[in-house]
Amino acid sequence: MTEYILAKHISKYLDKEVTLKGWVYNIRKSGKIWFLIFRDGTEFIQCVVLKNDVSEEIFELKNTLTQESSLAITGIVQEAPRQEAGYELLVKNIEVIHVAEEYPIALKDHGVDFLMDNRHLWLRSRLPYAIMKIRAEVEKACRDFFDERDFTLVDSPMFTPNAAEGSTTLFETKYFDRKAYLTQSGQLYSEAAIMALNRTYCFGPCFRAEKSKTRRHLTEFWMIEPEMAFFDIFDDMDLAEEFVEYLVQRALKNCRRELEILDRDITKLEAIQRPFPRITYDEALELLTKKGFDIKFGDDLGAPHETAIAEEYNKPVMIWRWPTESKAFYMKRDPEDEKYVLGVDMIAPEGHGEIIGGSQREEDINVLLERIEKEDLPKEDFEWFLDIRRYGSVPHSGFGLGLERTVGWICGTHHVRECIPWPRTMGRLKP
Ligand code: 4AD
Ligand code: MG
Repeated sequence: MTEYILAKHISKYLDKEVTLKGWVYNIRKSGKIWFLIFRDGTEFIQCVVLKNDVSEEIFELKNTLTQESSLAITGIVQEAPRQEAGYELLVKNIEVIHVAEEYPIALKDHGVDFLMDNRHLWLRSRLPYAIMKIRAEVEKACRDFFDERDFTLVDSPMFTPNAAEGSTTLFETKYFDRKAYLTQSGQLYSEAAIMALNRTYCFGPCFRAEKSKTRRHLTEFWMIEPEMAFFDIFDDMDLAEEFVEYLVQRALKNCRRELEILDRDITKLEAIQRPFPRITYDEALELLTKKGFDIKFGDDLGAPHETAIAEEYNKPVMIWRWPTESKAFYMKRDPEDEKYVLGVDMIAPEGHGEIIGGSQREEDINVLLERIEKEDLPKEDFEWFLDIRRYGSVPHSGFGLGLERTVGWICGTHHVRECIPWPRTMGRLKP
């Protein structure tokens, strides 16, 4: 029996006979030879079928095999420098496992809605395949980065009684005879966890009832949130910068092939090296005013503002020291001026928007209480959170990185919905 291998390992089998198992991606025919572009979920490989090399029956499969039919193919591995994979298979035998019905996704352009309705099939195509591979690598890199730096993973709950990031985007759900919300962020729990474990991170899905139909918003997205005791806003920004550099460099190192499939401009990613530019919110306003935007102190920055600022740099830019009223209740006030909080947003280059939101946290119980009251938040639900400030309160900081926006930037995709296997947006709950 010939050895069954995954196509990604083909280079180790030069001149050897191997068996690949997978699906028909495309077929090109010409007289005495036909080419089968074959995929097994680890690589796309050209298989060459020569009339003189195979039985009549196998040669004639060119007329009956349909796109996405499943096969086991046996052949000899050859070098093929002009093929993307660098190798091809000279076919000796084909065993048909299943002949596919007419496949709805032909290898031509379809509308995005059609493709999203068929997401379960669309995932098999080259671009989604490459994006899922990169997403998996970035997820792993997220964990590796913090695991290698004395952080402990502490997962936060999905059902919560509190709003962490504003009550307007809460998903409410029945919880027996009570109400619960789906989590918007694990941060509040992480703040408690670091008092036990010093440096922690949580990584999981977050839910926000975003009514905005933009290319940056999902209702279910993944966020990795590190939280650190004894870190101030500058330590926080240093870590965020090191983290983002690490993610991009890891994708460059381990996902070259996938970035090629996506036709991504690698030089843009290679430029992502520390230090990243840092500007204050006030400086951002100045820049925007110069660029002709009508914006005043206190306004939050929207997508067009972020894109205009990002245009100025070839690296992510950190905007910090925000107006108090524009940011969440837990951010620490700037001791030099109460008008500001020590928050930071990191904006990705090339129009991919905010990938990180973070801050130093308010550690003074009285200031925090004042903020909770001012924002009309239910104090009783935050008692446990206030306890963090009652028993050995310490300066601390953290941030959250949105996985899909980061992957979208690394991949150069147009919309974040392409960066999650099963996107959920205001208009989409299926499949
Ligand atoms: O800026 P945000 O709201 O910050 C927090 O949730 C903090 N509690 C994080 C922390 O300090 N631990 O969200 C953080 C990031 C954003 O920068 C963005 O990348 C992503 O999460 N994000 C979304 N991504 C996709 N769709 C949405 N609706 C998103 N909302 C936020
Ligand atoms: Mg934010």
